Amino acid sequence: MATFSLNGERREIDVPDAHPLLWVLREHFALTGTKFGCGIGQCGACTVHLNGQPIRSCQTPVSAAEGAEVMTIEGVTAQGTHSVQQAWIAEQVPQCGYCQSGQIMSAIALLAARPTPTDEEIDQFMSGNICRCGAYNSIRRAIHTASEIQAGQVTTDDASAGGGSDR
Ligand code: FES
Ligand code: FES
Repeated sequence: MATFSLNGERREIDVPDAHPLLWVLREHFALTGTKFGCGIGQCGACTVHLNGQPIRSCQTPVSAAEGAEVMTIEGVTAQGTHSVQQAWIAEQVPQCGYCQSGQIMSAIALLAARPTPTDEEIDQFMSGNICRCGAYNSIRRAIHTASEIQAGQVTTDDASAGGGSDR
C-alpha cells in the first residue's frame, strides 16, 4: 500500500512495496506518457519527478513514493503552456517521440536547478536520457530557448517564429 500525490491529486495504491513506480503509473493509473525503455535505469525514458527531482521510475519502488509528490509528463500542463513544452514545440525537438517525456521531465528539473545552464551543464545533466533518434542538438537548443522564455527574454510567439535561441 502506498499513498502519494500524483500530479496534484491524492492517490492510494495497494500493490507490493517493491512494485516499480513505472508500472503503477502506466498500468494502475493509465498514465502512459511515461515510457518503458530499458527497465534497468540506463535510458531515462521512464523519468518522472519525485518531490521535484528527476528519478528513473523503472528502478524506483512504489514504497519510495509514500507521502511524496510524484509528477509525470501528464502533470506538466495539459495545454502545453510550460516554457519547456513551448520550447520543444518551437525547436521541433521530437522525432519518433519515444524518449521525449523523459527528456522533458529532466529538462524541467535542470532548469529549476540551473535557470541558465551552459552547454556543458546541459550535456552533463541530460546524459542519462538517451535518444535513439539522436535529437541531442535540438534538445540542447530547446533547453536554451526554454531558459530564455522562462527569463522573459523571448515570448513563446518569438520562439515559435524562430526568434528564440540561435544555438
Ligand atoms: S526504462 Fe527506466 S531508465 Fe530505461
Ligand atoms: S525522439 Fe526518438 S528516441 Fe528520442
